[in-house]
Amino acid sequence: MRTVLKDFIKSDISIENKYLVAKTPINLSRTKYQNYHLMSYHEEDMMNQIADIIVKPNGSVLNVGYGLGIFDKQVQKIGVLSHTIIECHPKIVEMCDLEDVEMIHSTWQDYVPKLIEQKRKFDTIWFDTFLFNGPCCFKYEWDDFTSYVDDLLEVNGIISMFTNKFPKHFIKNIKTSLDMFKLQTQMIDEYELLFWIK
Ligand SMILES: C[S@@+](CC[C@H](N)C(=O)[O-])C[C@H]1O[C@@H](n2cnc3c(N)ncnc32)[C@H](O)[C@@H]1O
Repeated sequence: MRTVLKDFIKSDISIENKYLVAKTPINLSRTKYQNYHLMSYHEEDMMNQIADIIVKPNGSVLNVGYGLGIFDKQVQKIGVLSHTIIECHPKIVEMCDLEDVEMIHSTWQDYVPKLIEQKRKFDTIWFDTFLFNGPCCFKYEWDDFTSYVDDLLEVNGIISMFTNKFPKHFIKNIKTSLDMFKLQTQMIDEYELLFWIK
C-alpha cells in the first residue's frame, strides 16, 4: 500500500468549521503535520444533485469513500435495494450512522478484487476518494480503479467520479479513460459532472 494511504489511515480525523479534516505527516521523520480538508458541508448541495443524477431508484449502489456521508444520505433518500460503501479510515467508518448500508471497512484497492470474486455488480458506482497530494497520485486512484469497472458494473450501469477543482488537462484525460462506455456530461452550476454508461 502507498505510504501516503497508510499514513492517512493512521491520521487524526476531526470536523472543524464544516470541514472533515485529516492531520497527516508531511515529512519522512513525521515531525511535521498538515491538515488536509477531505470534504466540506459546503459541497452538500452539489453532492445531493450528483446523487439525484446518477442513482437509480431501487437499484444497487457502490460508493467508494464515505467522507461526511453526504452522497450516501442522499442515496438513502432516493431509495435503493442495495447500498454498499467502501471506506478505509477507521474513524470515518465509525462516523457512519446509516442503518441500511453494507459498510466495508477497507481500502478499495484491497476490497474491489473480492467484490469481483463474489461476482457483485452495481447499477451505480460513485468514486470519490481523496486523491492525496492532488493529481500526482491520480494514477493510483482513478486509473487503477477503472481497470475493474467493467466487471463491477451492470449493463446500463453508471459510473462517475468527483473532479471538482481538477486541472483542465486532467479532465481531458479522464474524459477518455473509459472509452468502452458512453460518456455523458451534465452541468451542475459551474461544475461539469462526468458519468459513463455501460
Ligand atoms: C472526499 S471524501 C468523500 C466524500 C463523500 N462523497 C461525501 O459525500 O461526503 C473521500 C473519502 O474517501 C476515503 N478514501 C480515500 N482513499 C480511499 C481508499 N483507497 N479506499 C477507501 N476509501 C478511501 C477517505 O477516507 C474519505 O472518507
